Amino acid sequence: MSEAVLLSYEKSVPGRRSEVIPKPDVPAYALPEALRRKTPLLLPELSEVDVDRHYTELAHRAYGVNCGFYPLGSCTMKYNPAVNEAVAALPGFAQAHPLAPAHAVAGCRAVMEELSESLCRIAGMDAFTLQPAAGAHGELTGMLCVRAYHESRGDAARKTMLVPDSAHGTNPASAAMAGFTVVNVPSRADGCVDLDALSALLDDGVAGMMMTNPNTLGLFEKDILKISRMVHASGGLMYYDGANLNAILGLARPGDMGFDVTHLNLHKTFSTPHGGGGPGSGPVGVKALLAPFLPTVASLGETGPLQVKAFHGNFATLARALAYIKTLGGDHLRDVAHHAVLNANYLMARLKAAGYTPAFDRPCMHEFVLTLEHERETTGVSALDVAKTVIDYGMHPPTMYFPLIVHEALMFEPTETETRETLDRAAQVMAAIRADLERDPEAMHTAPHSAVIGRPDEVRAARTPVLRWKPEP
Ligand SMILES: Cc1ncc(COP(=O)(O)O)c(C=O)c1O
Repeated sequence: MSEAVLLSYEKSVPGRRSEVIPKPDVPAYALPEALRRKTPLLLPELSEVDVDRHYTELAHRAYGVNCGFYPLGSCTMKYNPAVNEAVAALPGFAQAHPLAPAHAVAGCRAVMEELSESLCRIAGMDAFTLQPAAGAHGELTGMLCVRAYHESRGDAARKTMLVPDSAHGTNPASAAMAGFTVVNVPSRADGCVDLDALSALLDDGVAGMMMTNPNTLGLFEKDILKISRMVHASGGLMYYDGANLNAILGLARPGDMGFDVTHLNLHKTFSTPHGGGGPGSGPVGVKALLAPFLPTVASLGETGPLQVKAFHGNFATLARALAYIKTLGGDHLRDVAHHAVLNANYLMARLKAAGYTPAFDRPCMHEFVLTLEHERETTGVSALDVAKTVIDYGMHPPTMYFPLIVHEALMFEPTETETRETLDRAAQVMAAIRADLERDPEAMHTAPHSAVIGRPDEVRAARTPVLRWKPEP
């Protein structure tokens, strides 16, 4: 097992420096006393080569899409073409100032306009805001639009937001943050929304329904047109969680399924690298009836009717998304969905042949869920044990314990950018783990055996995270 990496502060040696900046040839500005630090700035003291090695060591320990297969379900960890990075890094984009006068940033404005138009065409919507910084942020923005719409019609008593029990946790959280009362809609045994249960919940208190399609089980909601008709007939609006757009890109549009508002995760479908907290982008698109409630960008010193992010959002991510859309073009955007779905079905079939049990034994969309309930009962090996063992085989684990309605769930999303050889290798890894499971289940309880950190106390890490180094007193 490799050793833990020391923090740069722990490597610090008093007085060690890296003098690379020439002395200024203009007089130093005398900072007013009131603005000066009262205590010295505590920074690690390291030589340049130590700093370089420190970050290189950290980079080597990080696992990303560029290192290998990354089948994290519900995350669309696809390869981000390098040309998108080159475009986002063009000086005219990377160095544009958000307060620059309009005439000086015509190129940036053209990017945003063209991206908005492309997203409207892709999603079947009439208008987009590019401000939200992530999917969850887009959900909140969309929910606030739905609330503003009902209020503008004197229909503010609509307080219920319906959310399927298979939904991603951010859906109920965003609806609650926007002031709605969340009511769960149960799924049927086939994993899709239970229409009878939905019908019983619809009344004049319903503000709308949040859904993703394919849903988080990787299954296409075949009754989607019926569902949107039912919700609309009760006066509610339909919200599409676009996190799963990769499965239908260029083939089907949320707007044509009856959705009134959607967010799209540019950092998933439109290939911005992600993981580790961003920056991301979750533009929100709406049908014309909701367009007046979209956030606007206020001029300097003003406050817009609703502004959800400073200036125009994470611009570099917008530039990457447009580069991605333009390099693929309409036909190849469609190929994304075809190959994403094909890859997921291929891997699911191979894992089934290796002895694993799909939670729903029918063709999937871009991702699928296994259940390890039987393995847990018969050998004591849990989905967590299997996921941790995957690390020892040098692969990134799939998503665990999501969606919540599947017991001992492992969720795989291979994405369209993986080759058949990579999928075959992943299937071999999973088959080898199956053999481990039968031969020595006990050893799997302590996996991974090759990682620096094996089994952190996840509750403690979430509840009392140590995010700051503090000097010893
Ligand atoms: C189905 C679904 N909805 C919403 C989100 C939230 O997106 P973000 O992480 O960009 O906030 C995710 C993220 O994984 C997701 O999988």
